[in-house]
Amino acid sequence: MKILVTGGAGFIGSHTLIELHNAGHEVVVIDNLCNSNPKSLERVSAICGAVIPFMQVDIRDRKGLEEVFSQFTFDACIHFAGLKAVGESVAKPLEYYENNISGTLVLLDVMREHGCKNIIFSSSATVYGNPAQIPITEECPKGHCTNPYGQTKSMLEQIMMDMQAADPEWNVVLLRYFNPIGAHPSGRIGENPNGIPNNLMPYITQVAVGKRPELGVFGNDYDTPDGTGVRDYIHVVDLARGHVSALKAIERKCGLAIYNLGTGHGYSVLDIVHAFERVNGVPVPYAIKPRRPGDIATCYSDPAKAERELGWKAEYGIDEMCRDSWNWQKNNPNGYEG
Ligand code: NAD
Ligand code: UFG
Repeated sequence: MKILVTGGAGFIGSHTLIELHNAGHEVVVIDNLCNSNPKSLERVSAICGAVIPFMQVDIRDRKGLEEVFSQFTFDACIHFAGLKAVGESVAKPLEYYENNISGTLVLLDVMREHGCKNIIFSSSATVYGNPAQIPITEECPKGHCTNPYGQTKSMLEQIMMDMQAADPEWNVVLLRYFNPIGAHPSGRIGENPNGIPNNLMPYITQVAVGKRPELGVFGNDYDTPDGTGVRDYIHVVDLARGHVSALKAIERKCGLAIYNLGTGHGYSVLDIVHAFERVNGVPVPYAIKPRRPGDIATCYSDPAKAERELGWKAEYGIDEMCRDSWNWQKNNPNGYEG
């Protein structure tokens, strides 16, 4: 298939490009590079042995999108582009709603105009809020999102569901990601956060490489086996392959389909710290800190629906996730700038 990949220079997008290429799909990337570096695309091209067509376009820019759609005919769009920092979204709600919601509305409208009515959307486990049940199935009711970032995911899901109900020619696949970590095994591409990392694994790797003195563990008094927060970490290469599998749902004209992409296993913060130290033989000093506002105790998926309907299942375990995160960080201590 010929696929438009929005936000393809970013962490998950860049890994997905490789898996799409390996599966024989053709891709075109658009990205405004607000949170990414075009070197990721150069490296993806090197890994694939093929140049990945790229246009620097903002999804809010209708003329720019029209130009892309006038040059290419797409079978489907995989839509990663969006702002994703939870804390920043609390400080800058208008910027988040404008970028994520307005941008997606423009994208959907231009797609419709050009007769491309197949979309795979990057949603998040955050839409479940404090989940009503663990493990979380897709039937679990959506919950209250405590931040504007999460609201944009929940609202965009609703917008696309309404759009699909009004026009059944659309095929909409909502992928609810759990916690992607790891990196491509080549160590050439990976997660490249700006400034102080918000997320656990990039913080751990920056401590391990000596850029930060210690990890703050946000709370050890949760109702979990060791008191620290439990999450469903998934290797980004497995997540990337989930998108290739999701194209099957589009091919069989699924209408609306929703899938959790996780492993089904929950690991605590301290499980991750200890696994990282064991697998990589590097110490990760840490200190217990107060809980982070908005965090929940436990969040992990029931991924059975994706296996049943798409034949997709995460293959990598926590050891590979820790190994590949470290392989990326130690080979690229300054991300794409080093
Ligand atoms: P990322 O920031 O690395 O990638 C997003 C890309 O979108 C970046 O390259 C950025 O430059 C681009 N972008 C942002 N706004 C844009 C706009 N208006 N026009 C064009 N490009 C724009 O993030 P990621 O971790 O790769 O996440 C990809 C998607 O998955 C996002 O929608 C994110 O919300 C979602 N998601 C991520 C996680 C996670 O933990 N990483 C979890 C759940 C969902
Ligand atoms: N944590 C720490 N110290 C840190 C960073 C995180 O102890 O420096 C803890 C958190 O308290 C939490 C766990 O590590 O218990 C994971 O935190 P992350 O910030 O890595 O991930 P979250 O589960 O909070 O959220 C992430 C993304 C969201 C996405 C969600 C999907 O940031 O955008 O996964 O499950 F929606």
